[in-house]
Order: sequence, then C-alpha cells, then structure tokens
Amino acid sequence: MNSNQSKIKKAKKYLDKNYCIGVPTETVYGLAANSYVNLAVKKIFNLKKRPKNNPLIVHYSDINSLKKDCLINDNFIKLYKKFSPGPITYILKIKKDSKISKFVTNNKKNLAVRFPKHSLFKSLLKKLDYPLAAPSANITTKVSAVEAKDVKEEFGNKIKFILDGGKCLIGIESTIINLVGKPTILRLGGLDISNIEKVLGFKIKVKINPKKKLAPGQSCLHYSPGIPLKMNAKNAKVDQAFLLIKKRKISLDNYYYLSKKNDLNEAAHNLYSCLRKIKKKGYKSIVVEKISKKGLGKAINDRLSRASQF
Ligand code: TXA
Ligand code: MG
Repeated sequence: MNSNQSKIKKAKKYLDKNYCIGVPTETVYGLAANSYVNLAVKKIFNLKKRPKNNPLIVHYSDINSLKKDCLINDNFIKLYKKFSPGPITYILKIKKDSKISKFVTNNKKNLAVRFPKHSLFKSLLKKLDYPLAAPSANITTKVSAVEAKDVKEEFGNKIKFILDGGKCLIGIESTIINLVGKPTILRLGGLDISNIEKVLGFKIKVKINPKKKLAPGQSCLHYSPGIPLKMNAKNAKVDQAFLLIKKRKISLDNYYYLSKKNDLNEAAHNLYSCLRKIKKKGYKSIVVEKISKKGLGKAINDRLSRASQF
C-alpha cells in the first residue's frame, strides 16, 4: 500500500466513526464529516463555532452520487459537464427522500453541492458510501486554511486527523451559483463568472451583498486576519505590513508579495498564507496595494474588502 492509500484508509476510518477531519481541496482545506449523520454534522458546527443557520457545502465524487440527494436541472448539467470537478458550488433542491442531515441546511430545502478536484480528496470520496459536508477549515470569520499546518493552527488537537494534500492550488474558495430558479451568483470565487456566462449563454445576476443575506458567508465581517486592513494603498508606514502584487525597486522587511509580476492566479494562491504570516509576525495593521479586478482579481478584492471590515 503506498502512502496516499494508507492516508486515505486512515481518513475513512475516522469519518466512518463520525469524526471530523481536515481535507485538501483545490480551493481551500475543508473540515469534513459524514453529511448523512446528525451527530457528525453537529461536530462541524461546534468546532468551527459556526452559527447553526449558516448551511454547509456537501462534497460528492460525481453526478451519480449526487442524484440520490438532489434534483438536477439543465443549467446544472451544462455547468457540471464543463467545470466539475472544479472550484464551483451549485445550489440545488434537495429530494424528499434524501439522507442529508437536516442540520446541514438548518432544515432548508436547498443544498449547496460541490465536486472537488484534488486527487486525494476525490479518491477518498470514491471510497465512502456517503457524501461529505465540509465548510472551510477555519474558525468562523477567520482566514481560510490553505495548508495542513493552517488547519492544525485553527483546531489543534480538537481534530484527530488531517489528510495532508500539500498547499491548495487555487487558494480561494469556490464560486457559488444558485441554480434554483434564475441562476444567481452568491459568492465570487475560484471560477470567474465570465466563464460561467459563456456556457449558459446569458448574463448572470450577482447578489453577493444583498440586504437580506442569502448566504451567511455574505456577511461583511469575514476572512479576517484579526487586525485592521486597508485596501488600495500607495505606501505603508514601517510598522504596517504592506501586501503587494508587483515587484518594487527596493524591498523592505514589511513588504509581503502576493506576486511579483501582477499574476492574479499566483496572488490568490498566496493570499491566505500571506495574511496568516503577517498576523504571526505581530503587525498591528495591513495595507494592500491596488489589485486589478480582472479574473481572480474580483474574488481577491471581495475577500480583502470583507477582511477590511474588521
Ligand atoms: O471552496 C469551497 O467552497 C470550500 C471547500 C472546502 O469546498 N468550502 C467553503 O465552505 O468555502 P464555507 O462553509 O466556508 O462557505 C460556504 C458558503 C457559506 O457562505 C454558506 O452560507 C453558503 O456557502 N451556503 C451553503 N449552503 C448554502 C445554501 N443552501 N444556500 C445558500 N448558501 C449556502
Ligand atoms: Mg468559509
């Protein structure tokens, strides 16, 4: 048995016993448990200190396993064929005879579902006879985890196992699209909306900051490094961490590069680890250089602007 197989076997052992474990995805690490078992799902909410009315995303290996729990529609099939597995989460109607625990959605009738691309997580899902509920593996409102050591930092010994799959490739959470009724984007994320619009053939409504919150993750205070953060800065004081996306002529100790060549994919990949690093260094505040809103830049700006509400 190679080391990946033995890690997956261990992960399965804990999940079968209704424990929560850390899992790697291509976006961010998840805190996973059996979505069919009330007790297991409740543990996720407790560990994350998550309000009960903030529903969880359920992760499936493929469309066939999903069909047991959700009603699918044409828009879903088009997007699934093109983008899954990948960084997109779909909101669908739950079937009456689904086994999903009512705690996953707080009794609501719509379910968020996702097909993760990370090979270790995919192999794990194939071995299980239940899908996994998994929110991002961080304490509520804090910065998401992109490495196994970040998950450890968040939960310490409170979780028994982390399936270590290296650093997350994308580094920012999935894009969420509500497919019940008229398609609507509820969260900007790892898949740029223009790609989704090309496949659906029409412009999609974006409702990421509605007055009436549709997804509690739309709340303003979110993704916070725990210190004040200011965006679109030209300069930083010496006691402020300066988050940059383009290489400067001179580099100072308080400069932290998301990218040195204005590469937005690289910046997303480094965003959460940079914020963690800065917090650990003991800086009292962060200022961020202006970041373009092209491609993943939209999601990066969204996260930074929520973090800046601290
Ligand atoms: O990339 C990701 O999506 C990661 C990885 C682990 O899959 N997961 C993630 O989960 O970001 P979480 O729980 O941190 O964020 C999920 C967001 C929350 O804002 C939640 O309110 C929203 O999805 N959500 C979940 N179920 C929903 C539903 N039925 N209707 C509307 N929004 C929902
Ligand atoms: Mg989260």
